[in-house]
Amino acid sequence: MTEFTIPGLSEKVGNKVADLLQKQLSTYNDLHLTLKHVHWNVVGPHFIAVHEMIDPQVDAVRGFADELAERIATLGGSPKGTPGAIVSERPWDDYSLGRAGTQQHLAALDITYRGIVESYRAGIKELDELDLVTQDMFIAETEQLELFHWFIRAHLEDQGGRLATEDASTEKDAARAVEG
Ligand SMILES: [Fe+2]
Repeated sequence: MTEFTIPGLSEKVGNKVADLLQKQLSTYNDLHLTLKHVHWNVVGPHFIAVHEMIDPQVDAVRGFADELAERIATLGGSPKGTPGAIVSERPWDDYSLGRAGTQQHLAALDITYRGIVESYRAGIKELDELDLVTQDMFIAETEQLELFHWFIRAHLEDQGGRLATEDASTEKDAARAVEG
């Protein structure tokens, strides 16, 4: 709950926007930790390429989390950045792969990014009626998330443009789909 909010927004709308931002803050906090986990656990012939591709994504997503957390405070709310908040607010389970090949992790990350991009696009629609300034932040971040998703997918695509993970809906299924 907020005690004040941004001039021109009602407290009701300010609270709704802060709640939406909080959900996405936990998503980002989960994502940058998960990306580091992948950075540490990839193995195989393309190790260095994938290991090094992941770190700029970690940095960018940590920056997005910072922007959203500070937006929550700007709206008069209190951002929750603890591990407990991440676990209690996310609708999904922990990333399910440990040490695995580069293709397996990339396939699993395709599923992770699919969920995240879908949730941001839903947030952008919702914000249309609530707060265009926050929507603008979401739009800019989503463009970057979609670019990162393409970096992942470019490793999973054949020359005909078909994704090896097209029929998978879980990380484990996706990882199995690229086992050669
Ligand atoms: Fe590192």
